[in-house]
Amino acid sequence: MKRILVAYATMAGSTTEVAQAVGEEIAKVGLEVDVLPLTEVMSLEGYDGVVVGAPMIMGWHREALGFLKKHREEFKRIPLAVFVLAMSLTQTGETSVGGVTVYMDENLPKPPQKMGSLTFRERYARLSNYLQPILSATRPAKPVSIGVFGGRLEYGRLKWWAVLFAMLIIRAPAGERRNWPVIRSWAATLPAALQLDEKKTA
Ligand SMILES: Cc1cc2nc3c(=O)[nH]c(=O)nc-3n(C[C@H](O)[C@H](O)[C@H](O)COP(=O)(O)O)c2cc1C
Repeated sequence: MKRILVAYATMAGSTTEVAQAVGEEIAKVGLEVDVLPLTEVMSLEGYDGVVVGAPMIMGWHREALGFLKKHREEFKRIPLAVFVLAMSLTQTGETSVGGVTVYMDENLPKPPQKMGSLTFRERYARLSNYLQPILSATRPAKPVSIGVFGGRLEYGRLKWWAVLFAMLIIRAPAGERRNWPVIRSWAATLPAALQLDEKKTA
C-alpha cells in the first residue's frame, strides 16, 4: 500500500487539526497516511508522497521552510503538496505562483483599499509574497499543489510579542477562519495530484 506523510509545523495548534483533516481525506481512498509534527520526521524513506503544512508566522513557519530545504533533493522524486494557513491575504487576482496553481479559500482575500496602489501591509500579504519563499525552498522541485486557507488566531494563546505582531503588522482580528469544507475538498484532490490515486496504486 502507498504511504503518504502529512507533516506540519504549528505555533498555537490550529495547523495540527488541519493536518489531521487533510490526512483523513487522503486515507479515504485507501492510502496509508501518517500525520506527524515536522520535528518528529526523521526521514522520508518509505513515503510515496508528502504534504507539508504550516501557518504564516511572519513569513511561512521557519521550521517548515527548513524542512523543505533539507529535503529538496528528495522532492525531485517524491511528489510534494503544501498548505498554508493565514489570517490576512490581499486580493490581487493571483491564482498561481511560479507556475503552481493555488487552491485558495475564496473567503480569505480582502480587496485593497485602493486598487492599483497597495499599502505596505497589503503588499506584504500578497499571495506571491507569501509563497515565493516556499517555491525557493523546494527548487528545483515544485509542489504539485498549494492550498491556502484561513487559520485561527486567539490572542489568549500567544506570547506578548506574537500578539503585538499580529495586531500591528497583519492587523488580523482574532477568530476562527478555518473553512473545513474547503480544506477537505482540497485534500480530496491530493491523491490524484500526488499521482497516488486508486487507479495507480491498484
Ligand atoms: C506571530 C504571528 C505572526 C503571524 N503572521 C501572519 C502573517 O504574516 N500573515 C497571515 O496571514 N497570518 C499570520 N498569522 C496568523 C496565523 O498564520 C494563524 O493564526 C494560524 O492559524 C496560526 O496557526 P497555528 O495555530 O498552527 O500556530 C500570524 C500569527 C502570529 C501569532
